[in-house]
Amino acid sequence: MLFLFVVVTACFGFLVKGEPLSATESYDFAISSESQLSLLKLKETHVNNLQSYKKVLKKHLQKIRRLLKKDLGLEQIAVSQKLLTQQPTSVDFEESMGAMHRLQTVYNLDSYAMTEGFIDAKDRNIKNWSADECLMLGLMYLFLKDYNQSENWLELALYHYDDNLSPEVLKIKLWNYPNLLESLVEANKGLGRYLEAKKYANELLSINPNHTYMLTQLPKLKHLQSNPIKLTKPKKVFQLQKEICSKRYRRKSGVLVCRYVDWTQFLKLAPLKMEELSMKPHISIFYGFLGQKDIEVLKNASRPKLQRVKHLSGNCSCKIGNLSSSSHDVVRKVNELILDITGFPSKGNQMLEVINYGIAGNYNPEDTAKPKIHNKANAFIFLENAGKGGEIVFPSRHLKVRPRKGSMLFWENLKNSVIYHQCPILKGNMWVANKVLN
Ligand SMILES: *[C@@H]1O[C@H](CO)[C@@H](O)[C@H](O)[C@H]1NC(C)=O
Ligand SMILES: *[C@@H]1O[C@H](CO)[C@@H](O)[C@H](O)[C@H]1NC(C)=O
Ligand SMILES: *[C@@H]1O[C@H](CO)[C@@H](O)[C@H](O)[C@H]1NC(C)=O
Ligand SMILES: *[C@@H]1O[C@H](CO)[C@@H](O)[C@H](O)[C@H]1NC(C)=O
Ligand SMILES: *[C@@H]1O[C@H](CO)[C@@H](O)[C@H](O)[C@H]1NC(C)=O
Ligand SMILES: *[C@@H]1O[C@H](CO)[C@@H](O)[C@H](O)[C@H]1NC(C)=O
Repeated sequence: MLFLFVVVTACFGFLVKGEPLSATESYDFAISSESQLSLLKLKETHVNNLQSYKKVLKKHLQKIRRLLKKDLGLEQIAVSQKLLTQQPTSVDFEESMGAMHRLQTVYNLDSYAMTEGFIDAKDRNIKNWSADECLMLGLMYLFLKDYNQSENWLELALYHYDDNLSPEVLKIKLWNYPNLLESLVEANKGLGRYLEAKKYANELLSINPNHTYMLTQLPKLKHLQSNPIKLTKPKKVFQLQKEICSKRYRRKSGVLVCRYVDWTQFLKLAPLKMEELSMKPHISIFYGFLGQKDIEVLKNASRPKLQRVKHLSGNCSCKIGNLSSSSHDVVRKVNELILDITGFPSKGNQMLEVINYGIAGNYNPEDTAKPKIHNKANAFIFLENAGKGGEIVFPSRHLKVRPRKGSMLFWENLKNSVIYHQCPILKGNMWVANKVLN
């Protein structure tokens, strides 16, 4: 319910404002208002995940201010209607909230550090999170009954509350100080801190003496204080991923073989450097597999096709576009090169899929230990370097491979087990191309 409230609030916030935005292409994840920017760092050209986009923010804020200065006329309403399809949907919101949850859990991130853009201490341009963003995460954790995290975020919202000086801006954000107090009561109640909860309840009642819900809560809190109940622990999630991604992996020396591949006529002209990471199962990297120009072509060709894939959505935070050999010469070349290098027959393989990651993006089609579908091998081409995160881990081989633009990672899958795992991306605008071989 609360979650729905968050989503509805966020979406409604846009309807009221009708801020025309400069989404360059409709495939992009759109960004709506200031209050949602930090949660929606998914827009391809501006993706920098947890960092704030000072430039974008400034531009958007100026537009919002301009719109606020005049009453919304028919023209603005028409613009907002037209742009509605480019606006974030409830799916976008749910995905970004889930992504924040995953990042914070997997990498054990401190809320306070997150609000200050912890990733890059050198970057002085990082804009601190505002009260809205903290409130949203506080509400999400409240919804998940993770009261400790919820209380952390709500306290941060309280801390940043005074930054929102303009009452106009607050009004369009559709929440107010009493809403924050109410959530703080709930979080503290969940933590068994009844004294604190009462403090916030009384503050709320001093502002709004007829608050019906709080009037019934106060006696309950008093009762709980003298008759404490057993508290429930939050459900643990993303534990497997946390274990895999927080571990340190050391490369074993002596096993590695580096050599040049010139198996075919074409490769004889342009041999590739190969590094063998594991013999059983077979895992290797081919450096310089794709050049900058071909990478651009693949991205361009996939852009109009990028979409969420149902069975991945939520945990992948990505959009995928399938490309057939007939769609572009470069796609055909890539497909042929993959088959040449790996020796796989051309039949039975899937199309080349180009993947663009959003916040906390990670391509793990099956989270379970026993996959339903057995694919023989993957050829995974990195089209970007990630700023942080996004590594492919082979837990059983103690291997962790960092994304390296233009290189192709090839691995054989073992029957009945998932052999690889990708860690959520922390920073950077990540693209890959993947081909499933059979
Ligand atoms: C962010 O907040 C910290 C501490 O609250 C402050 O020192 C820093 O100057 C702020 N950064 C910006 C860009 O406002
Ligand atoms: C609650 O959050 C604080 C701050 O993040 C952390 O230090 C503490 O370990 C958490 N407690 C529990 C029980 O998770
Ligand atoms: C609260 O309710 C009482 C009686 O029901 C009314 O007289 C008073 O004006 C209300 N106060 C506020 C702040 O709405
Ligand atoms: C996403 O991850 C969670 C936690 O690991 C898991 O419970 C859920 O089933 C996953 N969802 C999908 C669609 O794979
Ligand atoms: C990719 O698309 C961009 C923008 O449409 C264009 O400027 C660029 O030339 C294209 N690159 C290639 C290699 O096709
Ligand atoms: C791409 O193709 C695979 C099968 O080859 C299919 O499962 C997937 O849904 C397709 N994705 C898109 C975005 O069309």
